[in-house]
Amino acid sequence: MKDWPGPEDGERPSAYIIQLGDLDLTNDWWCDDGIAAQSMLLTAVEAGFGGCIIGSVQRERLRDLLDIPDRYKIIQVLALGLPAEEVVIDEVVKGDIKYWRDKKGVHHVPKRSLGDLIIG
Ligand SMILES: Cc1cc2nc3c(=O)[nH]c(=O)nc-3n(C[C@H](O)[C@H](O)[C@H](O)COP(=O)(O)O)c2cc1C
Repeated sequence: MKDWPGPEDGERPSAYIIQLGDLDLTNDWWCDDGIAAQSMLLTAVEAGFGGCIIGSVQRERLRDLLDIPDRYKIIQVLALGLPAEEVVIDEVVKGDIKYWRDKKGVHHVPKRSLGDLIIG
């Protein structure tokens, strides 16, 4: 959301998981990193947490900060924490998938319907 400056102190994720690919084993993990990320996020939600996959990461800065050896490729980061806001799923109207907040601060997330996703 362009008019949102980002989370304030106290709203920021309380934990991050950095997903690494071990290049000594392979450099092609197909979609396994995505399956692992989704499994971790679903487990977190079951436990009452919220999370987000973050692919937009300053990888070299993160590598330097945590001293991550070159052997490991930084694939993506999962942010985890207690959800600070109420989120509702809406149906997409006229193709508009932009998130928005209403006057009460409820976060609306439009999603395409199952019928729109299944072809044939
Ligand atoms: C591989 C991948 C990378 C992502 N990277 C980012 C990111 O860097 N920043 C971000 O705000 N959302 C990112 N997202 C999107 C969020 O993780 C999340 O999937 C998206 O907000 C949809 O969440 P929703 O189901 O609550 O709408 C990424 C998603 C995926 C699958």
